[in-house]
Amino acid sequence: MMPFGTPSRWLGEWDETEATRARHLRTVEPLEQAVIPDSAVTSGWEERFEAFLTKCYADDASADSSHGVEHVRRVVRAAKQLAEIERARLDIVVPAAWLHDCVLVEKSSPDRPRASSLAADRARDFLIESGYPGSCIPGIHHAIRAHSFSAGIPPETKEAQVVQDADRLDALGAIGLARCLMVGERMGRLLYDPDDPFCRDRTPDDSRSAIDHFYTKLLTLPGTMQTEAGRSEAERRAAFLESYLTQLKSELGGL
Ligand SMILES: [Fe+2]
Ligand SMILES: [Fe+2]
Repeated sequence: MMPFGTPSRWLGEWDETEATRARHLRTVEPLEQAVIPDSAVTSGWEERFEAFLTKCYADDASADSSHGVEHVRRVVRAAKQLAEIERARLDIVVPAAWLHDCVLVEKSSPDRPRASSLAADRARDFLIESGYPGSCIPGIHHAIRAHSFSAGIPPETKEAQVVQDADRLDALGAIGLARCLMVGERMGRLLYDPDDPFCRDRTPDDSRSAIDHFYTKLLTLPGTMQTEAGRSEAERRAAFLESYLTQLKSELGGL
């Protein structure tokens, strides 16, 4: 048995505790409190990304406030914060976040699983034409392809993990709730199934109601997060959705 108080053992324990505490402190705080880093590499480029995106959305009826430029601005902000915490490369994360939805495909379309690959190709063409550093482009292309829930492409880099997590965070919390209801309305879905609003005795079917979408996708998102900071923020935002369901249940007479 190791003698009690062996210096190296004590040092090791102290380091581990401190490291764990530091990691915990970094991730339990709401993401809004995280630093938004500046990148010399991407400064000057962000205006060009936004102008390109605005052009892509100009004639696209599906670019409403649930999936338009405001969604992308929020994803860029969260992606920068996650990149800072996760030490991911901003010259890949920032363009990938700005361009991740530069091709929009309606959720009900059979082409939906291809949307992120179409966006990745369009973004790559734009970046090459614009003279963006070529060594970054494969990483940006992969991060855009892998961001999508429906494509099911595993993110293979830290940068792709950050972009995927940032996009998923926007489906949770107060913004996620509003977006879910807006999309449900646009697709002609019910708010809830009047016979079984909370899917007690049936399989959730989000082609039927917006509340079903909580069960088919939204509440599963924390379990799909790739980064520790993303997961703790997703859990916080999913708890808000749970509390909304609790309130809704009481307003519907405890159904
Ligand atoms: Fe997307
Ligand atoms: Fe998105």
